Amino acid sequence: MQPDSRRRVQRSTIRLVAAMTSGLLGLAALHQTVLADSPYSTISPASPQADDIHGIYKLTFWLALIVFVGVQAALIYTVLRYRRRDENEERPEQTHGNPKLEVIWTIIPAIILLVIFVPTVRTIYAQADEIENPDMVVEVYGKQWWWEIHYKEPENLDGVVTGNEIRLPQGKRVLFRFYTNNVIHSFWVPQLSGKMDLIPGHENEMAIDTENVGYFFGQCAEFCGDSHALMRFKVIIEPEEQFNQYIDDWRAGPSEASAEYVQDGDISQVPQAFGVCLACHQVEGTNATVASEGIEQDPGTLDAPGAARTAGPNLSLFGCRTTLAAGTLTNTPENLAKWLQDPASIKPGNYMATVIQEGTLSEEQVQELVGYLGSLVPEGGCGEIPLQPGIDERVEVTDPE
Ligand code: CUA
Repeated sequence: MQPDSRRRVQRSTIRLVAAMTSGLLGLAALHQTVLADSPYSTISPASPQADDIHGIYKLTFWLALIVFVGVQAALIYTVLRYRRRDENEERPEQTHGNPKLEVIWTIIPAIILLVIFVPTVRTIYAQADEIENPDMVVEVYGKQWWWEIHYKEPENLDGVVTGNEIRLPQGKRVLFRFYTNNVIHSFWVPQLSGKMDLIPGHENEMAIDTENVGYFFGQCAEFCGDSHALMRFKVIIEPEEQFNQYIDDWRAGPSEASAEYVQDGDISQVPQAFGVCLACHQVEGTNATVASEGIEQDPGTLDAPGAARTAGPNLSLFGCRTTLAAGTLTNTPENLAKWLQDPASIKPGNYMATVIQEGTLSEEQVQELVGYLGSLVPEGGCGEIPLQPGIDERVEVTDPE
């Protein structure tokens, strides 16, 4: 090849690789700015644990980018430089094997793997150690398809049970213990931690430091059946004072706001229409206490589900929930009515739909329940948990066929 044409090839290669690199960097920047705002973003960590994981991600990302650009540059250069220029050109000498090159391209990836491996293993062990000496213990039970939350420690929290929204005080190390009595689920709050599986017959643990106030979206990350995609939840980290108020309010039971929906204004009783709900749902401070909670009960079988399978979320302070049906719908009276009229149309395969079908509840009963559940708010209000526009407003649900 003439020196002239070689220079041309080098120039074109440099230009192509430069264009490719800036394109990739542009994509990476877009990734950082656009996706960082999405609710399930792992690249905007909000806890020390998520931060550690993000550090490994960044290291891997940049190493992979360097490898990609290097490989593409070599490829493009080779294609341009050694292409066949005219029909009569001789084929170059064909060779097989090159021990020197082969050793090099084995050693380099081995070094790269080591560079990723060491901090990864170090992070895994460091995070495993964090489960010692927590400030708080919360048990999470994976149900089909929602999350039951049992507060355990410190003692003043013991007995508080909620569903799908995990309120936590700021500035604590929270130990989560995970259980399930049905299939495998996976607890994942991308901004706060890695994934942790919930496995039948096995206890898993994970610690999260609640450094930042805010609310963080979670999603089941292990396929677990019909409504796996609708098995969502939220972690709400609030100032400690507000959290303590929430716990007090939870224990206090319904406020006077519920009086107009119950017989003789007796707020320790649930309304008549709640009768069909009693077998599955509890409301603290009322006579709705018979439903099972936890995972100790008989799971039954798919054909004859036992109590542990069917028991639904504790509905105390329901009026303060931001969403319903495990993050499927925004908690509005209209959506709640839709849910009560025909839960199967919103969440395929859910156990409530085996009891409540279209027409099971009269329009009057639906309205009574919507009013009552919405009234389950504390005397002093719910505390500040704004909805996130565009994320929380999942009002459109298409009927499954
Ligand atoms: Cu639970 Cu997927």
